[in-house]
Amino acid sequence: MEKKDFRDSSLDLECRVEALLAALTVEEKLSLCAGRNFWETKPVPRLGIKPFRVSDGPRGVAWHSSGFGRHTAFPSGIALGASWSDELAHEFGAALAAETRGAGRHMVLGPAVNICRTPLNGRTFEYFTEDPWLNKTLSVQVVKGIQQKGVAACIKHFAANNQETRRMVNSSQLSERALREIYLPAFEAAVVEADVWSVMAAYNAVNGVAACQSSDLLNDKLRGEWGFRGFVVSDWFAVRRTESAEACIKAGLGLEMPGKGSRYKLQPLRQAYYQGRFSESELDHSLSGLLRVMMLTGHLDAGTRVPVPPGLLDQHHRLARRIAAESIVLLKNEVKNDGALLPLDPARVSKLAVLGPKAKKRNCLPLWGGSSGVWPPYEITPLKGIKERMGAAGMELVSDAAEADAVVLFIGLSHRPGLDSEVMDRKTLDLPLKQLQLIEQTVRLNPNTIVVLINGGPLTMDWADTVPAIVEAWYPGMEGGRAIADVLFGDVNPSGELPVSFPRRLQDSPAHQSRRTFPGDDKHVWYDEDVFVGYRHFDKHGIEPLFPFGHGLSYTAFDYSGLELSRDRVCGDETLEVSAQISNAGDRAGAEVVQLYVSDLACSVERPPLELKGARKVFLQPGETAEVQFTLGYRDLAFYCEDSRAWLAEDGLFKVLLGSSSRDIRLDAGFKYKSG
Ligand code: BGC
Repeated sequence: MEKKDFRDSSLDLECRVEALLAALTVEEKLSLCAGRNFWETKPVPRLGIKPFRVSDGPRGVAWHSSGFGRHTAFPSGIALGASWSDELAHEFGAALAAETRGAGRHMVLGPAVNICRTPLNGRTFEYFTEDPWLNKTLSVQVVKGIQQKGVAACIKHFAANNQETRRMVNSSQLSERALREIYLPAFEAAVVEADVWSVMAAYNAVNGVAACQSSDLLNDKLRGEWGFRGFVVSDWFAVRRTESAEACIKAGLGLEMPGKGSRYKLQPLRQAYYQGRFSESELDHSLSGLLRVMMLTGHLDAGTRVPVPPGLLDQHHRLARRIAAESIVLLKNEVKNDGALLPLDPARVSKLAVLGPKAKKRNCLPLWGGSSGVWPPYEITPLKGIKERMGAAGMELVSDAAEADAVVLFIGLSHRPGLDSEVMDRKTLDLPLKQLQLIEQTVRLNPNTIVVLINGGPLTMDWADTVPAIVEAWYPGMEGGRAIADVLFGDVNPSGELPVSFPRRLQDSPAHQSRRTFPGDDKHVWYDEDVFVGYRHFDKHGIEPLFPFGHGLSYTAFDYSGLELSRDRVCGDETLEVSAQISNAGDRAGAEVVQLYVSDLACSVERPPLELKGARKVFLQPGETAEVQFTLGYRDLAFYCEDSRAWLAEDGLFKVLLGSSSRDIRLDAGFKYKSG
């Protein structure tokens, strides 16, 4: 039989993978299982295989992993979550991929999709949301955007990696139902709907088994159930906690990074192999994904570095501004006799003070916040963005709050360890005392104070009633200052909605019921809240959040009407079409995120009162009406049944609810479900 050549790109992918496996010696195969340094695999010079290179990047190509290059710093993950925009998620993915390729990398270590279980998680700013539906929807789009450019996405951190405290030694203890309903959907959808090429196995263990050696996660779920064809890479140094090289090989871990001080170091790996602790076919099984991805990304073909043309970079910078502007959440905008303070009206505000410690602060710096730190070619701070826009509005900048017609006060956190940063969790949800005092002083001097928050997750705000307007701007990336000005001056009508609940106090959050649930006891973190994460917990216990999941105001108003269901009885796996009319009832163009929740009115297991199962972002001119449509399928009605190990929708009454937030439901309708 004619020998196939893995270099022949006209061959079918699986033939090429087989040909390469046949061409590699066992020694070469073993050498490909661990990195040669932080960012690349070992080469195989005999076959002309160069190192496969990766870069950090849930929010841009990271400085430290791209030969110290400067790249577009996009708003952080939680901001993309707050945009609720599939289109922006997709465009972001494509831009990220182009810059990754430009830096000569074949894979980007993102998106980061762990669920925001505790608001104290130091990495909340990197993740999208507390809700599995929103999480999976955005993840799929980011992955598709990245991979359509021939760059591999690496979705992380698999799985149930929800805090930084003791992240290398913890075990997340949770039910199969919580895993399936809350923590896995984004990973599952990334594989099933977007064919993601790589998955990063987390530092933590899940129910006592280290994620890097979990056959249940890596073999059974990822490959067996979902059909994953890519490779699993360990989080950096995560393999150290595993039992042995063979346990990881057998579970299907393809690549250990960074390959230093590791179980996959050539010696221990070789020893395990020659002692017969794993077979060559098991080695092939765990390695084949990496080889496949080398081919899918064109790594084995000519020309791996594709420079980004300057025009495209400008587009990416503009995209960073659009994402930031669409992610900004108007939390509060009190309407008094003379109207609301926002958007800033030059007829009422001729002198503006821009104050606070975050007005001039840069947030996009190397390693700032940890591995996601991106260093952009420039950064527009809030003050700079506002100054650029003030001239056109005919406003004067003053430094004294008492002298101004209005004050914009920038406060928040930073990417310092212990705040919004990797490795440590936050200690408190409160702002630093000095900033609390600053709010109080400023409001005393000038009641027209708009507080703009620069931070990465929920904060408590005992001061919320004392100020007329509050804006959540997250970490808005390199163009953040301009995006903030866009919203404050009304050039962009805010359309961001909270992707996480803001509690009134920490103890109101589901993960903060005891030390067991956070930070955990004896290296175990007990997910006692089970599926009641985020708003599911607030709703179940009737707790009033400070700002609910899905909340975000606009400078216009939207009316909801005409909710229709395609049937009032749903049988078996029939789908249900849902439609309604949304109108812009105000006098400004704007966008509304229409949220669809499902409620199972009677069930043999306890279910959350509301579960998000759809959302549409609709842009409307004043007076314009649009129809929004959704399709609900079996899985949207089902819970994960541990007895039958399957998704199960039970007979009975269900409700569909449409709203502007989880606590602002505008329309609802019921239907009956009947199985088979
Ligand atoms: C982080 C990952 C990151 C990796 C490489 C780890 O500490 O958890 O998210 O991709 O380092 O920098």
